[in-house]
This record gives sequence, C-alpha cells and structure tokens, in this order.
Amino acid sequence: MAVDVLLGLQWGDEGKGKIVDVLAPRYDIIARFQGGPNAGHTLIFDGKKFVLHTVPSGIFRASLHNLIGNGVVIDPITLSKELDELDAASIEYADRLFVARKAHLILPTHRLLDAARENAKGERKIGSTLKGIGPTYMDKTGRNGMRVGDLEAPDFRQRYERLKEKHLQLVGLYPYIEFDLAKEEAAWFKAVDRLRQLVFVNGEFYINKAIRDGKKILAEGAQGSMLDIDFGTYPYVTSSNTITAGVCTGLGIAPQRIGEVIGITKAYCTRVGGGPFPTELHDETGEFLRKEGAEFGATTGRPRRCGWIDLVQLRYTIMLSGVTQLVVTKVDVLNRFKTIKAADAYQIGGEKSNELPFDLVHENYEAIYTEIEGWNSDLSGVKEEAALPQACLNYIQYLEEKLDVPVTMVSTGADREELVTR
Ligand code: GDP
Ligand code: IMO
Ligand code: MG
Repeated sequence: MAVDVLLGLQWGDEGKGKIVDVLAPRYDIIARFQGGPNAGHTLIFDGKKFVLHTVPSGIFRASLHNLIGNGVVIDPITLSKELDELDAASIEYADRLFVARKAHLILPTHRLLDAARENAKGERKIGSTLKGIGPTYMDKTGRNGMRVGDLEAPDFRQRYERLKEKHLQLVGLYPYIEFDLAKEEAAWFKAVDRLRQLVFVNGEFYINKAIRDGKKILAEGAQGSMLDIDFGTYPYVTSSNTITAGVCTGLGIAPQRIGEVIGITKAYCTRVGGGPFPTELHDETGEFLRKEGAEFGATTGRPRRCGWIDLVQLRYTIMLSGVTQLVVTKVDVLNRFKTIKAADAYQIGGEKSNELPFDLVHENYEAIYTEIEGWNSDLSGVKEEAALPQACLNYIQYLEEKLDVPVTMVSTGADREELVTR
C-alpha cells in the first residue's frame, strides 16, 4: 500500500487538523513526519474543540493507530498536556499512540535558546513560536541532539546534563532573558516519565511493515510549504522540510511509496509571525478576513496576517510536493464579498512572471490580481455540492484551471461535518 500525504500549501493553519480528522476513517495509521509543538491543529466535532500539537489528528477515531515519526521534535511537557486532555475526554490511546525512537527531544534549554536568539534579533526576528524548534533541529543536524530512544539508555541523565551545559554556554552569548530553569526542568522530567509510558517503536520498521501488511497510511504535515527550510521564505521559515520530500526522511519510507498527495489551501491566505507575504492586506479587508475567519494562532494566540489567495505561490508549492488533489478550506469566510481577488502573476522588474523570485524578502516584485465574482451568500455548513452557489463553484473551477489540480473537497465551516466532497 502507498502512503498518502496531507500537507499545507501556504504558511500553515490551512485546516490540516480538520481535514485529517475527516479523512482518518479511510486509513489505518495517521503519522506525523515533521515539526513539533509549533503546530496547532484544531479539530471540532460534537460541539467539542481540541487543539493538537504533537499527537496526530487521527487520535479521536477509535481503533486507528497514530505514529509520531522520527522527523518530529517532541517536547514532553506539551505532549503530556495533550495526553491530559485526551484523558479528560476519555480517549483511549495507550495501545494506539506510537513514538519513533529516533524522534528528537526538545529540552527546556532549547526553548531558552529559542527565546534568547529571537530576543537578540530585534526587528529581524522570525516570529518563532518559541517552542524550541530551531535549536532542537540545530542540535539534530549538528549531531548533538537527544532522541526518544535515549530515554532507555542508562546514562540518559548524564547526556541531558552535558547538552544542557552546552546550551547554557551558548545562552551566555545573548542578552539575559528571564527563564526559571529549575522549574522548567522539574516539569520536563515529570513529563518525561509520562512519555516513557507510551509505546516506543523503531518507526521506520513499524511503517514499512505496515505498508507490507497492506495498511492504509496517511502522513500528516505540520506548518506549510512556504515555511519549508529549503523552499520557504528563508530565513522566515521553520527548521524542517514541510513538503512531501519530508515524509520520506521523517518516517523512513522510500519515495516510490508515496501515493496521493492532498494539498490544502485556504480560499484566501494567512501568515503568522514575520516574513514576506506578497498578497497581504493591510486595510479593512484584511481586518475583516481576520475577524470573519477567527484568524488567531492556535498555538500562540497571535493575530494572523491576512490577504488574498496567491496562485503563483500555490503553483510553486504544488510543484514542490507533487500535489494530486486540492482541498479548499474556509470558503465560508468569503461569504460577504461581492468580489474576491486572486494573485495570478507577479510583476518582477518590469516583467510579468509566473514564478516566485529567489528572494521574496529583498527583491522588488508586486502581485497582479484577477477579480472574481463573489457569492455574497451564506455557505456555513453547506454539505452538498449542489447547494453551493454558482459563483462559488465558478471560483473552485477557476482554482482548478489555474492550478491544474482537481479540488476534491471544499470546507464550509470549522466542524467535522461542514464539508463538501466532490
Ligand atoms: P492547521 O494548523 O492547518 O490544522 O489549522 P489551524 O487549526 O491552526 O487553523 C485553522 C482554523 O480554521 C481552526 O480554527 C479551524 O477550526 C478553522 N477551520 C478549519 N476549516 C474551516 C472552514 O472551512 N471554515 C471556517 N470558518 N473555519 C475553519
Ligand atoms: P501549523 O501546523 C503557522 C511559523 C511561526 C514563525 C515561523 C518559525 O499549525 O500549520 P518556529 O516556531 O517553527 O521556529 O517558527 O513559522 N509557524 C507556523 N505558522 N502554523 C504553524 O503550524 C506554524 N509553525 C510555525 O509563526 O513565523
Ligand atoms: Mg495551526
């Protein structure tokens, strides 16, 4: 069986959690392959709301297995809080939540370093979620990191102390910031004991056996393609590969095992944190989108920057990930527009271009827009394609033509049930 992939095509928060939860019953295993607690995936069903950061979004579907893959970075504290919420909701996970031994651990001092570095950057700060993501991936590629499997080693504590000391030396390079290390460490070790109670697996063997056994697997992306470390708006990116390629390294599967690639885009666009956003709206329309779409970060609560959909950007990320199906979310947020806009090309140095420039941060470019008729009617909760107004269908068809990928789902609200499947 192939491994299908679901990932965000913009700057994150496209609605991945909701769509994974919807698709989960079609699969046997949901696997996270990168990112960590910087992610916030929202699921709403039966009048309840959950925000997952580390746990895959298949956890609420009984009997489904969920894997936290080797490409993920885990903060035991965040994970432990997530488990508390699952316990409170009487969700059984003990025998169906698996953690790859090769996943790296976020230490309290990784968070301290993240904060100290961001603070020192001043104006040029990335707008990190301050969850320790960058420093943890740095230790991974710098060959200093600690992994979940190390928890089983007898000298785990010594290794922890050595890495902590290294971090404390590094922190000394930056201006002082407030951080109660003793308190954070106590919480961390308590959470580590909790993590130890989960089932650790050699993720690469686990997943390849599942493939051989004919299990259906969905890889759940975190962040968005424009935050990819190689192809995103560098340096305003996260520290992992968020595109399909990341599934191979983040789970340990070969490229030919990849099946369908489901790409998610909002009907408009958002970004949270710093960095370029070519179609950003700094006016009352942007403000309106933020209000109407409740665009506040699921992890940090920060207001998200809002703007129009960017087809140049989407064609780029569709190309990078080999997207075979599109899901368009939050169309209901555009309910009250008489006209909506889509950036279809860029003006770069006097020339019209369909490609993103090398450096969105410093180069001169401008988005060129096409105006599209809005539907100006309430879509909230529409579940049948036939119930979508013609103008909305036209917009979906326009996206299909311009992006050359079929739209298989249209999301019309935050609830699990609010979805049109085509
Ligand atoms: P993720 O990080 O990609 O999983 O997305 P987030 O959960 O961070 O942000 C998406 C937000 O939009 C959440 O608050 C969802 O509940 C909400 N949402 C998802 N799909 C829709 C939709 O179709 N319409 C509306 N109005 N809200 C949606
Ligand atoms: P989900 O999975 C939106 C952004 C941060 C910051 C940059 C780097 O919910 O879509 P980091 O903490 O990784 O060092 O931050 O990336 N960012 C996200 N933005 N959704 C996310 O995840 C994000 N994860 C990180 O705001 O600009
Ligand atoms: Mg999110």
